[in-house]
Amino acid sequence: MSSSTTTGRPQFNGSMRFLHWLMAAMVLTMLGIGVAMVASLGNYHLLVSIHRPLGIAILIVVVIRFVNRHFSTLPPFPPTMSSQERFVAHASEVLLYTLLFVLPLIGWGMLSAARYPIVLFGSLHLFPILPHSVMLYAFLRRTHTILAYLLFLAFIAHFGAILFHTLVVRDGMLSRMAPWRARAR
Ligand code: HEM
Ligand code: HEM
Repeated sequence: MSSSTTTGRPQFNGSMRFLHWLMAAMVLTMLGIGVAMVASLGNYHLLVSIHRPLGIAILIVVVIRFVNRHFSTLPPFPPTMSSQERFVAHASEVLLYTLLFVLPLIGWGMLSAARYPIVLFGSLHLFPILPHSVMLYAFLRRTHTILAYLLFLAFIAHFGAILFHTLVVRDGMLSRMAPWRARAR
């Protein structure tokens, strides 16, 4: 993943913006469902039955998004960002992509290790990707929780940085990812 391919355009291209907001909605729903699932026994089965296919959809969309980013021309970072801040921003993007890829795989892997049926819709099941092992299940179940909370923290940092730039530095950072077309500043 490289941010070095740049253009004079002030915005990410349409496909990157579309995939960003599609995934933002999916990921935030997913984090909410994950927490509600373990907190509410009443709706547990309904929530898990949404959580599994939505998680696999995130896995598919993140691969599409990664490939799309690779072939897209990215706008340069705004001049208001120092080289250290650019480094941190790039590192946080790498972290977000990595978590969005690894977390669903761990969810799939932990159900495989437990030999639970991995139901997507009705009779559509996923095949197991790991051998049967209770120890492995316990490890992955814990890792799934830790990485989900790390994703939540990474999102908060991402959101905070965008808010800071948009409201305090006032460099129009939000408009770089706005769903509509932004004019050059
Ligand atoms: C980006 C994708 C995902 C996110 C953000 C996510 C998030 C979460 C969260 C926050 C929890 C609650 C953790 C806790 O408090 O202990 C959870 C639990 C769980 N997740 Fe995911 N998850 C994702 C993908 C998946 C996938 C793809 C599967 C399976 C195919 C899956 C299966 C489960 C299961 C079975 C549980 C635990 C239910 C229980 O212990 O009763 N997750 N997930
Ligand atoms: C509602 C909350 C969100 C807002 C306001 C927001 C805003 C933005 C903005 C303005 C940018 C462009 C930054 C720049 O100019 O370099 C951006 C980029 C990015 N955002 Fe978000 N974002 C949100 C939620 C999320 C979520 C939930 C994720 C994933 C977990 C995410 C992942 C990314 C990534 C990976 C990039 C880098 C560009 C790319 O590869 O698509 N964002 N976001």
